[in-house]
Amino acid sequence: MLYQLTYRSEAKLGITAEDIISILRQSETNNPKYEITGCLVFNEGYFVQLLEGEKEIVKERFAIIEGDKRHEMVEVLSEGQTLERMFEDWKMAYIKLPDDPDSKLEGQVKKDLKTLEEATERPNFTSKVFWYNVYSLLDEKGFFRPQ
Ligand SMILES: Cc1cc2nc3c(=O)[nH]c(=O)nc-3n(C[C@H](O)[C@H](O)[C@H](O)COP(=O)(O)O)c2cc1C
Repeated sequence: MLYQLTYRSEAKLGITAEDIISILRQSETNNPKYEITGCLVFNEGYFVQLLEGEKEIVKERFAIIEGDKRHEMVEVLSEGQTLERMFEDWKMAYIKLPDDPDSKLEGQVKKDLKTLEEATERPNFTSKVFWYNVYSLLDEKGFFRPQ
């Protein structure tokens, strides 16, 4: 069963760009092995990540990520079955917010994120809207994908 999980966490104080690059490199190596795709958003000191793949594997990989010392206060915002991957072409897309305070789409994504954090009803629908807009940002702003 294709499954998606979105969580939010607080980056450890003093996290550096190198730490994030190292996370992305690990993701690039590991995720294809597990057929995991997704996106990592870094927003003002916290992470929001989408993991998509086979249900049991998503759960297993999430359990490993959850225990990572580079973040804390890990909280699942949305999870459940999905019919298709949203980040099919990505081992792990990455985007940092806010990058451009004047970008309308970035403003929208930040609003969507607030809605998602507060969503108690239909969180999966809310997360789809959020990730859809993040995906559009990748097109608009380029992206970071480690080689
Ligand atoms: C916010 C965050 C996101 C992460 N995302 C992934 C990921 O998508 N894939 C992955 O393999 N590791 C990810 N990691 C790293 C894992 O927690 C773990 O350190 C890594 O998978 C271990 O890799 P190794 O078994 O190759 O040493 C993430 C860590 C953090 C802090």
